[in-house]
Amino acid sequence: MSGLKLGVLISGSGSNLQAIIDAMAHTISSKVVCVISNKEDAYGLERAKNHNIPTYVVTEKGEIGEQQIIEYLKQSEVDLVVLAGYLRIISTDLLEAYKGKIINIHPSLLPKYGGKGYYGLNVHKAVIENQEKFSGATVHYVEEGIDTGEIIMQKQLNVLEEDTPETLQQRILHEIEHPLIVEAIKFLESEKK
Ligand code: GRF
Repeated sequence: MSGLKLGVLISGSGSNLQAIIDAMAHTISSKVVCVISNKEDAYGLERAKNHNIPTYVVTEKGEIGEQQIIEYLKQSEVDLVVLAGYLRIISTDLLEAYKGKIINIHPSLLPKYGGKGYYGLNVHKAVIENQEKFSGATVHYVEEGIDTGEIIMQKQLNVLEEDTPETLQQRILHEIEHPLIVEAIKFLESEKK
């Protein structure tokens, strides 16, 4: 089975990117062909370089920045764009250029705790404040709204009484997000056949 050529967009640590890179050795046949960051000092860029994956930094905002991203993705012959902790809103140009081919991972059970303001620790603070019994992560297609596209896959865990927003964030990242992003890519590979 031939895999997908993945272009991964990041803004920070890139631990989900790392999970994808690790899975390339045995679990998935897709390959990360490039990593794009809007932040020069994103640690995820180091992770990519450690595996000889080409990187590209686009700090320019708005249409100019998006055109640079589109060009680079096209040049790299990307067929699936993975947003893995990319903290910029994707605009129409990129959505049009990769219609139905952009996915995102979000650290909550969407549609709960998605949309404006729900990023980073804010998500987990709200989950704990509302005394939710479950939380988790979602991989979904990206469309114009924030965190609103069709859900591809979701996994949950129990929120523990002793959880703080920080522990919940870490548990979701390691126990749920990392395996989930890999599973979702595997699923999309099988859809491509
Ligand atoms: C993850 O929690 C992801 O769900 C969210 O941003 C975070 C990125 O973490 N969109 P990392 O950079 O992959 O470590």
